[in-house]
Amino acid sequence: MNVIGYLRRFTISLWHWLRGLTLALINLWKNLGPLWLRILSVLVLIVIAAWHQLQLFMTPNLTRENVYKVQYLNEGWTDLERQSFYYTPQGTELLGIEYQWFLNLELPLSRELLATAENLRGWGFIVSPGQRPDDLNPGNLAVGLGRHIDPTTGKERLDIGCATCHTGELHYKGTALRVDGGQAVQSLSNAKRGEFITTMAASVFETLINPFKWNRFATRIAGKDQQQRARLNQRMWTFAGHIKDFAEGAGAPKYYPVEEGRGRVDAVGRIANVAFGFDLDEPANYRIADAPASFPFLWDIWRFDWVQYTGFTNQAMARNVGETLGVLAPIKLVSAAGEPIKGKEFGKTVVDVQGLHCAEALLRSLRPPKWPQEVLGHIDLHRAQKGKTLFAERCQYCHGPHISAPYEWAVADQDNPSIPGQISSNWQWDMAGQITEQNGKPVRKDWRQRIWSIPLLATDIIGTDPKLADNYMDNRYDAGKLVPGSEPVNAGDGLQLLLNSLVPKLYQRWQIEGDQIAAYDGLNVPFRIQNQRAYKARPLHGVWATPPFLHNGSVPTIYDLLSPQAARPTTFYVGNREYDPQKLGYVTAKTDGSFLHDTGIPGNRNSGHQFTDEAVPGRIGHLLSEEQRYALMEYLKVMGNPDFDQAMGGDPANWANYSAAPAPEWNQGSCNNVHLRHGVTDLSAQTTESTH
Ligand code: HEC
Ligand code: HEC
Repeated sequence: MNVIGYLRRFTISLWHWLRGLTLALINLWKNLGPLWLRILSVLVLIVIAAWHQLQLFMTPNLTRENVYKVQYLNEGWTDLERQSFYYTPQGTELLGIEYQWFLNLELPLSRELLATAENLRGWGFIVSPGQRPDDLNPGNLAVGLGRHIDPTTGKERLDIGCATCHTGELHYKGTALRVDGGQAVQSLSNAKRGEFITTMAASVFETLINPFKWNRFATRIAGKDQQQRARLNQRMWTFAGHIKDFAEGAGAPKYYPVEEGRGRVDAVGRIANVAFGFDLDEPANYRIADAPASFPFLWDIWRFDWVQYTGFTNQAMARNVGETLGVLAPIKLVSAAGEPIKGKEFGKTVVDVQGLHCAEALLRSLRPPKWPQEVLGHIDLHRAQKGKTLFAERCQYCHGPHISAPYEWAVADQDNPSIPGQISSNWQWDMAGQITEQNGKPVRKDWRQRIWSIPLLATDIIGTDPKLADNYMDNRYDAGKLVPGSEPVNAGDGLQLLLNSLVPKLYQRWQIEGDQIAAYDGLNVPFRIQNQRAYKARPLHGVWATPPFLHNGSVPTIYDLLSPQAARPTTFYVGNREYDPQKLGYVTAKTDGSFLHDTGIPGNRNSGHQFTDEAVPGRIGHLLSEEQRYALMEYLKVMGNPDFDQAMGGDPANWANYSAAPAPEWNQGSCNNVHLRHGVTDLSAQTTESTH
């Protein structure tokens, strides 16, 4: 039969079919009975269609991954130490959600539980295949999701620990390569539809308004007791109120116009909005935070003299307390009327000083990850040796490590209560450390045997996206509630004003006294801030295991980073954890739930750190040939790994040769989960009402 004939027959049969269908529908409509029933049926159809659409709209944005076993790449931790890093609480909250609630919430418009291991993995959190609940993780949740006790209610709340953001995983053909202290890919703060936080919020609201959902939830949490259920309902509404306040305040999407996506958060921007806007009840302090930062990796971090991408601070405890505020640890800084609080009430919080010290102390024994040859492929030693030479010539002068003798930090004292260059210092706190004299002046001698002095490269020299450093330098916050009449300050200086009074207060509450203070501060380091429009060039042990690269995660692989900007991908997807052992990064193909990183958006730019022969901004060396790039990458896979020291003919970066951290006795015990209970016994006398 020819084509025309075929088309004719097709058109005729289509016509018959459509006519038949229409007639059948008309018949159905006529025979459905009275008009009201007919209208009702149409309405039902509309509702079903709308429900279906709504369900589609609410579909969680999950990445499906298939891994069958876990292999741990870092040495240095016992299983218990690893579990402690994962689940020791620090006092952070998700707007006060109770642990049991979190375990029992269902997905919106569904009966399936929200926080199942599979769903959490889909949102980029880390769970082990076949993982079972245990003492530290009774809810069988993802790495980092712990619990602490709220002293006002005695209830356990969900705690977001360091490991949530600072643990990575690379997947390769079904094996999950766990990178402790590495870089996470979850998107905790992403307020886009289908993401973790929005799905959780939708679930909470639906639980409150859908009587069937409520009934199931309340029965699981409170049983049949009507009073318990009513109280639960009340607490849940309060919690929903917190979500609403937060979503309209410090968490309002309008302040975060550049999607953080997977594996990033504008940490400093968010900390400042929460601390100076939300906690101080000063909405005029909200600033645009449009410079998402890729989660940095933490092995060896305790050796650094200055930390954070812009190197703005030096002390572990103050840094960590600042971080807990950003991760929504409730704290009382102002009264209900928004007036600053002085005296005993100031700074009441669930921030867990022991837990913070535990995490910090644990990190000091964590080694960089070792390239697993049996999974990711064998090292070409000849090539790696060439890479070693190239690294020494072209990279080492920035990336070091530049090893230094211990510092002597000048301290503020009663006669000289301020330190030059510091907007505020607390001499009582400075002097509470271990003090020695140096040329008649009091100093704190750093307890580290050796310190890594980290170079900071001005943004106009390194040429990478300047937004994060610019925001840090240029955003100003009114700190009048902390120091009346003070000039507006940047985030670092503002944190100094706040933490100089807050941290000593926390020490008092937790009875950290005498010599212990030097230890808890972090190896006798006084809290300092420095302000530079710059990024730090950190040592690169194990960097191959921490994609994507640069402070904003704008370059997916090390191969791309060593190529000129013109050859780097301008868009790529993040979320799939499958590793590419050739280019050293994640596979960047689109998968369900993945996030499109568009380097055209300021904040996401992939400029700078360029090896090229063209005179472009951010050029830091000559073009590297293909062979040179691969040689450098081969070396980076094993750089410092003592197993390869001999094969490499001696590696100057051999990590077995670095000094260990002093381990004061107070480290022991700080990880003990017993302080979950201390939270109640020690703090219950003080009501820890949050200001939220
Ligand atoms: C919600 C995610 C999140 C949590 C939880 C978190 N961090 Fe971080 N952390 C980040 C991000 C993002 C940065 C980089 C911010 C910047 O420098 O702009 C960072 C920076 C750091 C740095 C400096 C790293 C460097 O390269 O200089 C250290 C150290 C650190 N975090 C330790 C911790 C510890 C210890 C905890 C727990 C007590 C913790 N973090 C909890 C996200 C998190
Ligand atoms: C002039 C100083 C300088 C030189 C030379 C240099 N780097 Fe860097 N490097 C930096 C700085 C600064 C950063 C951080 C930039 C940022 O995050 O925006 C960085 C970042 C990196 C990162 C990403 C780290 C991360 O956590 O994402 C890698 C990988 C890296 N460099 C590798 C190299 C290699 C390999 C060489 C030599 C071929 C090299 N660099 C040479 C200064 C330098």
